[in-house]
Amino acid sequence: MTFNQDIEFMLSKFSHEIRNPLTTLYSTVQLIEMKHPEVKEFNHWSSLSYDIEYMNQLLDELSNFAKSERLNPETFDFRSFLEHLSLSFAASIAQSEVEYTSKIDSSITQITGDKTKLQEVFFNLLKNAFDAAKSNGTIYLSATLENDDIVVIVQDTGCGISEEQLPTIFDPFVTYKKQGTGLGLAICDHIVKAHGGTITVESTEGVGTTFRVTLKAEYKCYEESAD
Ligand SMILES: Nc1ncnc2c1ncn2[C@@H]1O[C@H](COP(=O)(O)OP(=O)(O)OP(=O)(O)O)[C@@H](O)[C@H]1O
Ligand SMILES: [Mg+2]
Repeated sequence: MTFNQDIEFMLSKFSHEIRNPLTTLYSTVQLIEMKHPEVKEFNHWSSLSYDIEYMNQLLDELSNFAKSERLNPETFDFRSFLEHLSLSFAASIAQSEVEYTSKIDSSITQITGDKTKLQEVFFNLLKNAFDAAKSNGTIYLSATLENDDIVVIVQDTGCGISEEQLPTIFDPFVTYKKQGTGLGLAICDHIVKAHGGTITVESTEGVGTTFRVTLKAEYKCYEESAD
């Protein structure tokens, strides 16, 4: 699938059009609950709200996907950015059995890029690693400077990816999870490429997975025209 502005327009319009009736549906459910609190006792009532919430999340993912190549660049300290992100991820999984470690090279300094979108890239990779490692695996994040490249590695000792599935995982809407959208890695791929970087994966089923993101340390994003 080639990503272009027509697809971006179509996806934005599509998610916008669905969000309106969904918002009405959500308000109606809230109203019914308020006027008739006994409905909460009905079987499947809670799954109604859950499904609406899930559809909202899908629409958020869809808009993120549509906007993934539109950069809002700024120059920022990539090292402290990654340190914050790493701390926040560690806090989010603190209650789990998963062991998380990170090593961020002190030589990493500034980068020009879209901070919010890059944050999304690493959160998506870490979330996938967590989903894979789940019960008692390990996750390791490292960032090093190699020549002019910043190399960030997200590695896990989770379930790994089969040889058949591996070539498909960056395709939009390809998921092997019960509740996945299959947009996470497609978004990562678009964002990293829009920064002039690369994203690659190596995985062995039953052993684990390593994602490697390379970003140009001195890369300057182009400014988007305001059309
Ligand atoms: N670290 C990993 N270990 C094992 N499998 C992975 C890993 N990262 C990605 N995958 C596989 O790649 C598929 C696509 O990942 P992607 O992030 O695009 O979508 P998803 O995680 O299924 O859905 P979502 O991101 O919306 O939660 C996943 O369903 C999973 O099978
Ligand atoms: Mg994902």
